[in-house]
Amino acid sequence: MLAVSVKNVSKFFKRKKGEVVKAIENMSFDVQKGEIFGILGPNGSGKSTLIRMIATLLIPDEGSIKVFGHDVNKEPEKVRKLIHRVSVEASFFKKLSAYENLFFSAGIYGLSKKYALKKIHELMASIGFNHSRLKDPIEDFSRGMQQKVSIARAFLTKPSLLLLDEPTTGLDPRAKREVQELVHKASTEGSTILLSTHDMDEAYKLCHRIMIIHKGKLVVIGEPKKLVENLRKKYPNASLETVFFEYTGENFEQIDLEVV
Ligand SMILES: Nc1ncnc2c1ncn2[C@@H]1O[C@H](COP(=O)(O)OP(=O)(O)O)[C@@H](O)[C@H]1O
Ligand SMILES: [Mg+2]
Repeated sequence: MLAVSVKNVSKFFKRKKGEVVKAIENMSFDVQKGEIFGILGPNGSGKSTLIRMIATLLIPDEGSIKVFGHDVNKEPEKVRKLIHRVSVEASFFKKLSAYENLFFSAGIYGLSKKYALKKIHELMASIGFNHSRLKDPIEDFSRGMQQKVSIARAFLTKPSLLLLDEPTTGLDPRAKREVQELVHKASTEGSTILLSTHDMDEAYKLCHRIMIIHKGKLVVIGEPKKLVENLRKKYPNASLETVFFEYTGENFEQIDLEVV
């Protein structure tokens, strides 16, 4: 069964002076149920726009998107019940504590108080959140800490489709690992995961398939290992980073890397 089906989707934004930005242009791809699917691309390539459309937060200008067979335009309520999105611009009640925010979300999801309490503590422990800070207001948290609360919120329930927009950006190495383990665990428990990331290592290790987008267009899609193997004919020491440079128009060999 297809978890996500994107067909000929475009999204345009109008800027001042009538200029039009093609944030996503004629994009098509499918994500299978149970997959961890990576979205890679430079800043501004359209990753968040794509994820926001799948999350029903933006309406495509052209084409169609289906989540488990439900059209995001025609049946947004059904889609919203199946998904959860984590993004850097997470919305919280900033004056309330992490605990209060999570408890509030648990209520919206219809979780019992007893279950929510247990689950919040379990989740926060599993991503290494300092227990003593749970009752502090979100506005006092670093970006990494806020990101952790946002991730915990996504895992309160077991969404069929998790949309993770750069979930590990801004996290320290340990927290990053912990989040990656949580993503892997969610996948083994049956969730389908769409994950955008700038971390090539993370994409290589975690994703069953990845796609690279550049200036709103899909430039390559496949299993990370195969993408790297293909490029080894050209560059014997190729890694996923090489694949990224190759497909996003940078000439890898000309990039000035100073090695000391
Ligand atoms: N709400 C918006 N209004 C105007 N332009 C936007 C809006 N959202 C995104 N864009 C533009 O669309 C392009 C893709 O942005 P985005 O999806 O955020 O990229 P990424 O997440 O890959 O960094 C960029 O050129 C960005 O400036
Ligand atoms: Mg983004």
